[in-house]
Amino acid sequence: MISTAKNRKTFGGFILGTLLVLAITCSNPMYGQANFDKTKSTQSNIPDSIKVILKRNQCIACHREKDPLVGPSFEQIAKKEYSSQQLLKLIRTPQTSNWPGYPPMPPVKSITEEEVNNLAIWIMTLNKS
Ligand code: HEC
Repeated sequence: MISTAKNRKTFGGFILGTLLVLAITCSNPMYGQANFDKTKSTQSNIPDSIKVILKRNQCIACHREKDPLVGPSFEQIAKKEYSSQQLLKLIRTPQTSNWPGYPPMPPVKSITEEEVNNLAIWIMTLNKS
């Protein structure tokens, strides 16, 4: 008998605790803020010459400058400090194991060496670390 009453009390405490966590999570303004920033950063400062390359090869469907989308952001990629030769290889034959948690990138063969050279220079400017 006594132990049943004790269990009920513990269960009640558990429910109360769960509700409290939920209330805090929902009222936390940071969550709304994150969503807001996501829509904002789709209008980024990508130079026109780079936008043309990203659009022509459809990279923009999966990559953004600052926020990860389907693939990592170009800022994240910049931290790897790839040379343009390495970038060319990775775009034509992606190595998904480099990005745990991401789906595989389909190989993009349409991109030219010159386009990758220009991309590489731009990506380098995003590395702020
Ligand atoms: C259908 C979605 C999709 C498209 C289109 C796409 N990517 Fe990716 N990309 C990804 C994903 C997902 C990853 C991470 C997993 C992987 O590398 O397979 C990635 C990874 C990368 C990497 C990191 C490579 C590494 O191994 O560190 C680079 C650089 C890159 N993409 C550039 C590009 C460029 C440039 C284009 C356009 C020519 C492009 N991607 C098109 C989804 C995409």
